[in-house]
Amino acid sequence: MRYRTLGRTGLRVSEVGCGGAPLGIPNYNEVWDPWAEDTTREAIATLQHAVELGYNYFDTAPSYGDGRSEELMGEALAGRRDRVYLAGKTEWKGKSKDDVLRRVEGSLRRLKTDYLDVLQFHGGDYTPDDFRWITEGGPLDAYRQLQRDGKIRFIGITAEEPVTLRPFLDTDLFDVIQIRYNLIYQAAWHNILPLARERNVGVVLMRPLSSGIFQKLMRAARPDIDQYLDLHAIALNYVLSDPNVSTAIVGMRRIAEVEANNALSDAVEQRLDLDWLHDRMVRAE
Ligand SMILES: NC(=O)c1ccc[n+]([C@@H]2O[C@H](COP(=O)([O-])OP(=O)(O)OC[C@H]3O[C@@H](n4cnc5c(N)ncnc54)[C@H](OP(=O)(O)O)[C@@H]3O)[C@@H](O)[C@H]2O)c1
Repeated sequence: MRYRTLGRTGLRVSEVGCGGAPLGIPNYNEVWDPWAEDTTREAIATLQHAVELGYNYFDTAPSYGDGRSEELMGEALAGRRDRVYLAGKTEWKGKSKDDVLRRVEGSLRRLKTDYLDVLQFHGGDYTPDDFRWITEGGPLDAYRQLQRDGKIRFIGITAEEPVTLRPFLDTDLFDVIQIRYNLIYQAAWHNILPLARERNVGVVLMRPLSSGIFQKLMRAARPDIDQYLDLHAIALNYVLSDPNVSTAIVGMRRIAEVEANNALSDAVEQRLDLDWLHDRMVRAE
């Protein structure tokens, strides 16, 4: 496993992190009951094995299975808290400062910890009204109080549409962004990553493997493609090739997956030159 710096937080994070959505949400990408005995055992063993392999960035949210993902992480990471960084999220739409504070207490309880390393506003895209609500309506005040109280270390925000984060980065109050950026969704390359680099904001990737869409598309076009290409490796290698990315949080619930992704982090000889890949300009010479 290789490590990168999460922007201005200075945290040295594993370049592949653990994404908590498939662990807690029923039937995420495949049939999965997060409350069943066998899946609980498998999820906990997978997370603990990830820690042993050197994964140290774990991302979750209360909405991943109504707190189930947080419970599983809390169970798996109990006694290992000092070896990992925990990133959580809160809802913010229509939520007051007190609502946000109350919700974080629930997350801390389920995660069996008294602090989060990163807390993020959980969202897809942001209108000017959303920006005003978060920064002036109470949610950001809650985060700053949590920071003063030692319950969170750094402030972040997540977006499926990364360009809508620009006003937030302009405030200089955000340490981390979590964005959708992968083989299919490319726009962040030019519309947010340069700004994040300029502001020294940590960049976490959600859906780094396109939540499996790229793989399904390729298999639909060529059903025997897995005999020739490791589609999953192509997708992970693509995002790890970008030096602007701090960590790619991959949804994993199996030991074989954390092992494969750990090996792909070390396979640096496969990295791509993304400047070359994105170069569409006609050159004079
Ligand atoms: N902030 C937000 O609004 C937001 C939105 C979406 C996601 N996220 C975060 O981003 C994380 C990642 O996104 P995601 O889980 O949707 O998608 P993803 O990481 O792009 O893809 C996850 C899928 O890849 C498969 N996979 C992982 N490692 C594999 C391997 N070595 N070989 C083959 N398949 C492998 C998993 O399979 P299995 O299904 O078989 O385990 C899973 O279905 C989430 O868990 C969550 O923490 C945040």
